[in-house]
Amino acid sequence: MEQKHYWDKVAYDKEFTTGFRMNVFKQYVHIDNRILDYGCGYGRTLNQLFEAGYTHLIGVDFSEQMIKRGRSLWGTFKFEIIESGRLPYEDDSFDAVVLIAVLTCIPDDIEQIKVIEEIKRVLKSNGVIYINDFLLNEDERNVSRYQKFSEKYENYGTFELKEGVVVRHHDTKWIDKISSSFEDLYYEPTVYTTMNGNRSNGFVYMGRNIE
Ligand SMILES: C[S@@+](CC[C@H](N)C(=O)[O-])C[C@H]1O[C@@H](n2cnc3c(N)ncnc32)[C@H](O)[C@@H]1O
Repeated sequence: MEQKHYWDKVAYDKEFTTGFRMNVFKQYVHIDNRILDYGCGYGRTLNQLFEAGYTHLIGVDFSEQMIKRGRSLWGTFKFEIIESGRLPYEDDSFDAVVLIAVLTCIPDDIEQIKVIEEIKRVLKSNGVIYINDFLLNEDERNVSRYQKFSEKYENYGTFELKEGVVVRHHDTKWIDKISSSFEDLYYEPTVYTTMNGNRSNGFVYMGRNIE
């Protein structure tokens, strides 16, 4: 199944779970700043940001059904459907972009880089990116699925879920690479509960757009 079709299919069934470090975010993002949530799903983070006092908020996602659910939950927020890695905004449009549990849905290196570059394009100079995502695990269940699919996806950490989607757990070296054009502001390794109720290593990263 094409990735987008999967997210459309499960749009009303899934509850996303990775926590948002509002206290960290607030240190770098002023309450008046313009914020983009890339891969916003049904908009739970937009709602958290709104409740924390942020009002200039836009959520984008390639899944029409996720956006439909978001609009029905929070009619006042601005949501837009996009194509992967293409943002309908001018250069230097946002003070902050959040990318929460989205890299895990993008198995391909080149597509991940395209998304990061497009985010960088719409970020203002000195704007910040907030990323959270999943890291590699060492338990038997994960190691065996990483091994099973490593040849097919030419990457250790990418695997298929029976429900019909390909997901990726990342090597920290890869995260260092895709964030290398940002000035590091914050990094925290953590453990998340996934959307399917399992535990996985993960991280929070914040970086400043320096070019
Ligand atoms: C695991 S969900 C997380 C949603 C939201 N960020 C949250 O944490 O509540 C991943 C979301 O990213 C979207 N997505 C996946 N790949 C994408 C891509 N290449 N471009 C845009 N959206 C994408 C999916 O449709 C889905 O809504």
